[in-house]
Amino acid sequence: MTIRICPSILNADHSRLKEEIDRVATADLLHLDVMDNIFVPNQTFSLEECQRIIKDSMIPVDSHLMIANPDRDAVRYAQAGSSSVTFHFEASQTPLATIANLKSNGVRVGLAIKPKTSFESIADLLGEIDMLLIMTVEPGFGGQSFMADQMGKVEQARKAILKLSKSAPWLQVDGGISLETIAIAAQAGADTFVAGSAIYKAQNPVEMISQLRLAASI
Ligand code: DX5
Ligand code: ZN
Repeated sequence: MTIRICPSILNADHSRLKEEIDRVATADLLHLDVMDNIFVPNQTFSLEECQRIIKDSMIPVDSHLMIANPDRDAVRYAQAGSSSVTFHFEASQTPLATIANLKSNGVRVGLAIKPKTSFESIADLLGEIDMLLIMTVEPGFGGQSFMADQMGKVEQARKAILKLSKSAPWLQVDGGISLETIAIAAQAGADTFVAGSAIYKAQNPVEMISQLRLAASI
């Protein structure tokens, strides 16, 4: 299985973001957490800031939208140059239309579910998306503890993905991923891993990225 490591710049030093982005250029995707203080009780980057980050990044940008109205707004992040745009199922009234709209704007489409949302609720959409994001913390903040009780959902998703005849969507986990937890998520079937604190708190982020990659591959 191809393993992808996605550093989250949420808890990077925002006063020198360009340097912080450059420090993780050996990763596969740069994970950009967009929060609007409505869908989650925290606010992060404006659209203009996202455009700058996307321009500054040498690696493709994976935008994770924790916003209240993705059906209206998600497409802006595709047009800003994201490589993939992930929106929350819980915030969407018309997920199929939003998926189609994003696809027609040329991005990979991710669908995210919060810890309390079941896999069954999105099972019908699995064949329509390029990535499923199973949150392993409540969205909103970096530095929280990994929720191992989400692994049943990851296993369910992996089984369903294996049954799909179309090209398999990536299976991403986000929240509390570290050297201690990444193998647990990999064993359950995840192949794409967001890590914020683990990478940015490390002395050497490049070394941490390769250690995480190794730990997920075993
Ligand atoms: C949480 C964000 C995560 C966060 C992960 O809502 O979606 O991407 O940055 O941070 P860590 O790896 O510290 O849990
Ligand atoms: Zn995220």
